[in-house]
Amino acid sequence: MIQITVPASSANLGAGFDALGIALTLYNRVWIEEADGTVEKPLCIIESVDGTPIPTDETNMIYQSAKLLYERCGHPFKGLHIKQENNIPMTRGLGSSSACLIAGLVGANTLLGSPLSMSDISDLAASLEGHPDNTAPALYGGLVASVMDGGRVHSVSVPVSDRIRFAVFIPDFELKTEVARGILPKQVLREDAVYNLSRAALMTASLFSGRLENLRVAVQDRLHQPYRFQLIADADKVFYTAYELGAYAVAISGAGPSILAIIDIDNKDFIEKAKKELQNSELEGWQVTLLSCDMNGVSVSFQ
Ligand code: HSE
Repeated sequence: MIQITVPASSANLGAGFDALGIALTLYNRVWIEEADGTVEKPLCIIESVDGTPIPTDETNMIYQSAKLLYERCGHPFKGLHIKQENNIPMTRGLGSSSACLIAGLVGANTLLGSPLSMSDISDLAASLEGHPDNTAPALYGGLVASVMDGGRVHSVSVPVSDRIRFAVFIPDFELKTEVARGILPKQVLREDAVYNLSRAALMTASLFSGRLENLRVAVQDRLHQPYRFQLIADADKVFYTAYELGAYAVAISGAGPSILAIIDIDNKDFIEKAKKELQNSELEGWQVTLLSCDMNGVSVSFQ
């Protein structure tokens, strides 16, 4: 079997709606091999190795994306045997669906001898996901700025200041991306567009260069977070707590409901204090975890 390791990702980073994303040091692992079915009746054998409930039939996202890649490459598909270890919480705004898409596409591409380039895979993944801001970081690692233009993804991955860590607040409830996108207005004011695009540019340059004093302004957003707050119970309290504990910047992670706080490497008590504060504020449903930026993206090993 081949093993594919894919990082979690946090999209948007405040102002960079559908454009910015960062890979995080939390990983799903997937093992995949061809099954011995027929083209008429492909086999689908899927196991969860850690007990996480996952679809074990043809609706499984890894299976579907792998099958799609076989079809795109004109290769007969006889089914797959897949094992999944799911460490990225699902439907929480941490890129779990993108991680599954990337695992299926990269896994299938590897089984076929790598007929597609990383760039082809990036295009396919983003078209399946609908936007590139989780798929590109999951593929390349790092802080990734992406544009989807005519079905092609143009993206650049850069490292971030090594002073930066991420405290990720994860609630015990799910929020479906369709719902969190469905409440957004179709049109925005020009001043709000300028407000966001200037901050998204500032966020990218500041994370890359280490000008961390800019992050609190750079993370501000008028395009999605003001609408999404109503869908995330106690988000205001989590934002307040993170800023009180010295976070540089706080944002809804992707479409939510998780919340990403960017903190300094020297803010060593942050997690312990945040855990206490979550307990004291009766936010028991929330957990907080310390992560870094993953710089590698997806990786494949042969077993
Ligand atoms: N940019 C996307 C959104 C990320 O905010 O809806 C979630 O998939």
